[in-house]
Amino acid sequence: MYDYKIHAADKATLYRELTDAADALTADEPDGIANMANVAALFWESLPDINWAGFYRNVGGELVLGPFQGRPACIRIPFGRGVCGAAAASLEPQLVEDVHAFPGHIACDAASRAELVVPILGGDGALIAVLDLDSPTPARFDSEDLEGCVKLIQRLSGRFGGMAKTSPQE
Ligand code: SME
Repeated sequence: MYDYKIHAADKATLYRELTDAADALTADEPDGIANMANVAALFWESLPDINWAGFYRNVGGELVLGPFQGRPACIRIPFGRGVCGAAAASLEPQLVEDVHAFPGHIACDAASRAELVVPILGGDGALIAVLDLDSPTPARFDSEDLEGCVKLIQRLSGRFGGMAKTSPQE
């Protein structure tokens, strides 16, 4: 059983504990999709006031829905479209206080107002995926959330890119 309930008094502590928990959860697993699934669940369990937490993977130059928690979401997002597409095209994190004011925002869930997206890069600098967090509360995410998520992704990016071996012989 995994019990990673995090009750931190401040955001810096919360993200430190969240990152340690994500590290422990993914340490022995080479399959990037399995690791994305558990890390999405960890965000969902640990962060207050969010309505979506998950990943879009870079599949041949297009973002494709990956493991997530929350409502069913848009499946494919071209680079450059919406907040996730902006992160994918620029390779820069996107902190959006109000998505209604973001040009080209893709409304998967009309309730979403604030969004934080962090690109995940492989060792070669190429985009593997993006981490996407949504909240129904405008300005829910601030620079501490951004810093916490960027540090988590920097530390664990290698856990999201590997593929499981298809057979024990390989
Ligand atoms: N709103 C996002 C699309 C993804 S969903 O919110 C899950 C965007 O504009 O990138």
